[in-house]
Amino acid sequence: MKTIPTPAASIPSSTIQWAIVAPGKIAHKFARDLRVAEGAQLRAVAGRDLSRTRSFAAEFGAPLCFDDVSALAADPSVDIVYIASPHNAHFATAKIMLEAGKPVLCEKPMTINARQARELIDLSRSNGVFLMEALWTRFLPVYSQVREWLDGGLIGRPQVVTSTFCFQAPRDFSSRMFNPALAGGGLLDLGVYPLAISQMVLGRKPDHVTATAQMSETGVDEMLAVSLRYANGSVAQFICGLNAHLENSLMIGGDKGFIRLPEYFISGKQAVLNIGGSLTTIHQPTRGEGFEYQIEEAMRCLRAGEIESPIMPHDDTLATLETMDEIRRQIGLRYPEEIDEV
Ligand SMILES: NC(=O)c1ccc[n+]([C@@H]2O[C@H](COP(=O)([O-])OP(=O)(O)OC[C@H]3O[C@@H](n4cnc5c(N)ncnc54)[C@H](OP(=O)(O)O)[C@@H]3O)[C@@H](O)[C@H]2O)c1
Repeated sequence: MKTIPTPAASIPSSTIQWAIVAPGKIAHKFARDLRVAEGAQLRAVAGRDLSRTRSFAAEFGAPLCFDDVSALAADPSVDIVYIASPHNAHFATAKIMLEAGKPVLCEKPMTINARQARELIDLSRSNGVFLMEALWTRFLPVYSQVREWLDGGLIGRPQVVTSTFCFQAPRDFSSRMFNPALAGGGLLDLGVYPLAISQMVLGRKPDHVTATAQMSETGVDEMLAVSLRYANGSVAQFICGLNAHLENSLMIGGDKGFIRLPEYFISGKQAVLNIGGSLTTIHQPTRGEGFEYQIEEAMRCLRAGEIESPIMPHDDTLATLETMDEIRRQIGLRYPEEIDEV
């Protein structure tokens, strides 16, 4: 991994000062877990509506509020910015931050397509500024245990990953789930998780992708089935969607046994190792609501002068977005801002 000292060499070894951009639903959960993470403090909040931003800041004790992300980017008292806006708005904000030398933890998916992610990663590398996609699942303790089982060869060679991630979303066509202008659809919101876990187990990028989808009235994917094949012959499949309930579990199979992450595998607190019917079950409760581990990893990277995390490296984010671009090509989904792209 490429490691470049960050320009923020003055980052204190004790408390890291965070800012949150877009004080919406997920930002509340993040702010609660900032309180759980060792050595983190909420310094600033930025949003489009100053009264909403002030009330969020008051709730979580942040001293600074901004209605302009460029002003936030220029504030020297902020060490790192967490971006929690809808997908379509990640790119512009992250770009402003990275250009200003401000480290970024960006909600999943990092951007709506690979082209945007490539540009952010290039900026992170050329400016030597930390950048990570907030794919929180990979940082959970239960996934460390899964990686240990896999590395130890307990299920043999992993051959298959299968999962489902579906729920019945409120049919509000203006919401970020269904609105194409906000990069709606199940793939970018939910499918990013099975892709990130298959990638962790089977390899960075599949060499063959097959996708089929049921599209919503708004033209985004509301039920999606995907099959993936990797260079070594292993395969993965997932179904994700916004119009049905399913058990949202994940299984990893090898020639000696399998691992099951029961519902909800994305926030996994339990994993079961099954070797020929002999079960080992581990329970790994989280200290907070589960975001504290990615927060602590981001801070470890900042203190170590690393611009990416080995748990969620830039190239993994990029490869997943390339796969999602291909899935969208197959199901005929382009977002409005992509229409003019060649
Ligand atoms: N890790 C997880 O478990 C998880 C779970 C849910 C969501 N997420 C991710 O977090 C992001 C936000 O999801 P959410 O459910 O929190 O969304 P949300 O509540 O609908 O929106 C978040 C905030 O973004 C701002 N916003 C809304 N539309 C915007 C626009 N067009 N441009 C710029 N800002 C806009 C709004 O704040 P202001 O109006 O105050 O600026 C809003 O409160 C998504 O990318 C999603 O994938 C992650």
